[in-house]
Parts: sequence; C-alpha cells; structure tokens
Amino acid sequence: MEGEISMETVVATTKEELKQEIDCWRNAGETIGLVPTMGYLHEGHASLIRRARQECDRVMVSVFVNPTQFAPGEDLEAYPRDFERDRQLCRQLGVDLIFHPTPEVMYPQGFGTTIAMDQSMTGVLCGKTRPTHFQGVCTVVCKLFGLSHADRAYFGQKDAQQLAIVRKMNRDLDLGVTVVGCPIVREADGLAKSSRNVYLNPQERQAALVLSQAVKLGQEKVAQGETDADAIVSAMKEHIGKEPLARIDYVEAVDDIDLRPAHTVVSGTLFAMAVYIGKTRLIDNFITGGDAK
Ligand code: PAF
Repeated sequence: MEGEISMETVVATTKEELKQEIDCWRNAGETIGLVPTMGYLHEGHASLIRRARQECDRVMVSVFVNPTQFAPGEDLEAYPRDFERDRQLCRQLGVDLIFHPTPEVMYPQGFGTTIAMDQSMTGVLCGKTRPTHFQGVCTVVCKLFGLSHADRAYFGQKDAQQLAIVRKMNRDLDLGVTVVGCPIVREADGLAKSSRNVYLNPQERQAALVLSQAVKLGQEKVAQGETDADAIVSAMKEHIGKEPLARIDYVEAVDDIDLRPAHTVVSGTLFAMAVYIGKTRLIDNFITGGDAK
C-alpha cells in the first residue's frame, strides 16, 4: 500500500464541515465516490478506495464505528480503532476527504428514524443471530448517502448480505446512488481480510483458514459440475466441522440478489458462512458465476 499518491486529505468531523467540502465539489460538477467504513482500514478497504479513485473525481471515506449496528454484548467497545493510521493510509491512497463524526453528530438528541427492511433479507443468514444489525447498517448508510451526495458508493463482497441489502434499500427508496460491489481481498494464505482478524491468537489465526478452505472446496465442487447446492453446503460444513476451534453459525446457499434459499446452483448462487473461531465470528463467501451484482 506504500508509494501511492500523497496529497492532503481533509478531515471533517461535523456535518457543517462536510457540507462545505461537498458543496464545493457539487458546484464544480465533480462526481463523488463514497467508501463507507468503520475504520481500522486494511487492504480490503484500500481496494474499494482505489476503485473509487479510478471512477470518481472526488473520494470521500467515512470512518465511523456505528453503534446502532451492534447489539448489547457485541464488540462495539472492543472494535479496533486507529484513526491516525487510517488517516495516513487515506492520504497515501489519494482520498480527498475523511468524514469522522462522533456518535452524537450522527445520532443527536431526539434522533428517531430508522430504516427497517422486511425480514426476508434482514432476518436470514447473519440476521438470524444479529436481528437488529441490518437496521443499524441501513440507517447509517442511508444517512451517509444523504450527507455525501455520492454518485457511487463502494462495498466489499465479503459482506455479501450487507451489499444485497444496501442495493435493495437504494432501489426501494430511490436513493439514486450507484452501488458498486468489489471482490473479497484475502491474505496470502486465503483468510479474507477483516478488521476483526486482530482478535485471533496465533492458534486461532491458523484455525481460521478453515473458512477460505471451505470456500475453495465449494468452488471446486461447482467447477466439477455439482449442481446440488445442499450437497455443496454439506461438504463445506463437514470440512469446517473437522477444525476443533471452529463452531459453525451458518453455512447456506442463497440467491445473491434476494437472499432466498437456493437448492440448485445457478449463476448468482451465494454460498455464505459465519463461523466462530474461539470467540471471534468470521464470515466468508463465494458467488457462482462471478462477483456480486
Ligand atoms: O461494512 C462496514 O464496515 C459497515 O457495516 C458500514 C457499511 C461502514 C456501515 O457502518
């Protein structure tokens, strides 16, 4: 990630500061790319930023650990944060503006509106064990779309359910943003990049490879012509089950757009999983026939 563009990156912490910058860009007719993040940036985020940099005149990155998408007892307080490092990386990647608000800026006293999507997409997969999570995600993403006036917004395919839900919200509410899904970025040994990987001790880090191995196994079965999605899910579960430190939350095959269960493999079948490695819950997935639409 070193040796890239170096320029000044403005940091806005209030909506007024943000508006000042965004207004200048809009008045100049410039296109705006938004990369929403919770910070602790890694190569996965960098790939979204690079794509935005290629496709838009201006790039805004939001760094905000959004409290409304964490349930009580989840890792809101422990979630890793290092704003100085994030700022440096954004600078190297040529980001024009970082929006880094406090929770009070995003949710001032009297805040009372949330985006609640029906359960068909928010109550499945991760939504089964995190029933309020996507309501929090949709609410903050909708606010960020409004604040940024983004033409395009960039999301990773690692969070395939989030991507599908954000696309649906964008369609349903006519938000008019072009939502761009970007491929999963992996460590050299296959582990999908995630801010939460720092929670893993060395033994767990090794055990976590079981997720990407299951992805590879599933992809191989599809490549061999297997069309029974349930059989592929069973094989993936069996593989993960062999790792003593792993506890499966779910492994499922669904349609990548509406997240309805898929029993036969077609183009756009999403094989998604969440697996606890020790106390850390990791996700991974693959989509047949290419990346998320
Ligand atoms: O994917 C994330 O990091 C978050 O869910 C997002 C989209 C930034 C909303 O807080």
